Amino acid sequence: MTDIHETVRLHYAQAALGVLNGESCCADDGQYGSELYSALERDELPDAAVMASLGCGNPIAVAELHEGERVLDLGSGGGIDVLLSARRVGPSGRAFGLDMTDEMLALAQRNAAEAGATNVEFLKGNIETIPLPAASIDVVISNCVVNLAADKPAVFREIARVLRPGGRIGITDVVADDALTAAQRAERGSYAGCIAGALSFSEFRSGLEAVGLADVSLTISHGVADGIYSVIVKATKPVGGAAVPPASGAPEGAAVDAVEGAATSSCCGGACCG
Ligand SMILES: C[S@@+](CC[C@H](N)C(=O)[O-])C[C@H]1O[C@@H](n2cnc3c(N)ncnc32)[C@H](O)[C@@H]1O
Repeated sequence: MTDIHETVRLHYAQAALGVLNGESCCADDGQYGSELYSALERDELPDAAVMASLGCGNPIAVAELHEGERVLDLGSGGGIDVLLSARRVGPSGRAFGLDMTDEMLALAQRNAAEAGATNVEFLKGNIETIPLPAASIDVVISNCVVNLAADKPAVFREIARVLRPGGRIGITDVVADDALTAAQRAERGSYAGCIAGALSFSEFRSGLEAVGLADVSLTISHGVADGIYSVIVKATKPVGGAAVPPASGAPEGAAVDAVEGAATSSCCGGACCG
């Protein structure tokens, strides 16, 4: 585990423990958190899932999910977007959440049980080495997590690998103006606070295009700091594109077990939690 992983993990473990103890972890200031969801969406969920919302957008509103689809949420936190996805894809679909923080996974499991969700699975792991097989996912979503990753090219490579041809992404994330240097981004906020690790618009676009994703669009939703924005990122994996090998270190063998475990609801090769 890198220093970045450990700093970020400790930050979000604290946030999860707060919610598990009945406190709200997050500023609902219109820039981050549950205020970015409609009242109808919030009413679908257990209170703790809403209270643990730490995102900078609402990927469900942009991913246009359909019945029967398999959705993967990168950095699923307390599970808000997994639970909303699960309802949209229905019993014939499946919603996976991937997170590296045990306390967040415990909170998400509790929220899923409270919501009575049966078509969800929370996996423990890093988004740089996704524990799922190639071409197993229809839609990758994520809410304010790519900026936290220690190795962003690996994240993009893994997204392209797990998407089926014709699959798509609907991600919300923090993105910086192209003109801002790494030092200027760090002046505006911390890494664990989702600012210092933000990619620029052109870095995000070229990262997705470098792994073969097409139709890349980045649309500003709202500002979160000077020259830093919450942005909706969409892209598709072309049908007939070249196969994407796993990022180095990706546990491809364990990954297959994880999905087989998901189908039978049993635990799976150490990859899933709970
Ligand atoms: C800002 S919170 C967002 C949580 C959730 N998406 C939401 O909208 O509430 C970031 C989450 O991503 C997880 N995370 C951060 N970096 C990660 C990584 N490299 N791999 C896996 N999970 C990560 C953290 O543990 C935390 O739960």
